[in-house]
Amino acid sequence: MFAPRQSYLRRAPYNWQHFSEKLRDLSQKRQPMTNPVQPTLNTPPVPNGQLVVVVGAGGGLGTAVAQQFIAQGYSVVTASRSSEPPCHGATWHCPCDYSDDGIAELVNGVSALLTEHPLSLARLVICNGVLHNERIRPERTMKRLQRAAMVEVLETNAVVPTLCLGAFTDLLVKAPAPKVAVFSARVGSISDNRLGGWHSYRASKAALNMLLKCAAIELQRLNPKAAVLAFHPGTVDTAISKPFQRGVPEGKLFSPDFVASRLLTLLDTLPEGHELAYLDWDGKPIEW
Ligand SMILES: NC(=O)c1ccc[n+]([C@@H]2O[C@H](COP(=O)([O-])OP(=O)(O)OC[C@H]3O[C@@H](n4cnc5c(N)ncnc54)[C@H](OP(=O)(O)O)[C@@H]3O)[C@@H](O)[C@H]2O)c1
Repeated sequence: MFAPRQSYLRRAPYNWQHFSEKLRDLSQKRQPMTNPVQPTLNTPPVPNGQLVVVVGAGGGLGTAVAQQFIAQGYSVVTASRSSEPPCHGATWHCPCDYSDDGIAELVNGVSALLTEHPLSLARLVICNGVLHNERIRPERTMKRLQRAAMVEVLETNAVVPTLCLGAFTDLLVKAPAPKVAVFSARVGSISDNRLGGWHSYRASKAALNMLLKCAAIELQRLNPKAAVLAFHPGTVDTAISKPFQRGVPEGKLFSPDFVASRLLTLLDTLPEGHELAYLDWDGKPIEW
């Protein structure tokens, strides 16, 4: 039988003083971020005072989103794995490997921009996602599941976007009414899954949605005017959909520019302080 709760407590009294000393040690060891990154500006910030950060700007949708924000007169920071800026006209391009240090460098650079220029963080758009690459094929059956591929898909689709969002928390808290969009997918909806297949991709987007829910709840407590969008772009003509475009019905394969402009409009119309919306390119809600 289990020992009664009280006697257990008596046998193992917790040393709270030791615990708080440990905590103090840990917080002293945590170094403040030194060497703030001084971004090398590609173009000076534009005068409308609104800064947008596009993470994963090297992909088909990320590039289109960054270009449209630039065309609308925002100052834009792009981050991608490439050292080449994905488009002309961005204020700063940050090559980022999405490691902890890489993400910290991006956030540091954006923070420096916000300190040194009359800018406020208006939008954060995170586009990262993988369905296939030289190591990964979307699985059709359970037998095809492979540990390394599953981990890579979960890392790229759920872990990296949420770590990026988490790293921006302090800047999002200080921003007047920031709006965040993260590229999810309809196949991440558990209730919408009638066909099965694409196990890792579906699971990673479902995990992303849950992580976004937690982030949005927390963010709203910290900044009640912040809003978060889990966005499904539809099937878009980019590298990720290339091998799967044959079965797409006529008129349902969208261009990145079309979807980017839908996203910008959705973000404009998303009410301030909306905790988390899960919307498609047409602004229609998706069941979780
Ligand atoms: N196209 C569609 O039909 C479709 C449909 C539903 C959902 N989506 C979602 O939309 C988003 C954008 O996709 P896309 O259509 O623009 O595809 P894409 O052109 O293939 O872009 C891929 C994106 O994922 C990032 N990425 C790829 N491998 C990565 C890795 N190992 N680590 C970190 N980041 C990695 C890229 O980042 P870099 O910029 O750093 O290269 C880029 O942002 C994705 O989240 C995707 O799941 C797309």
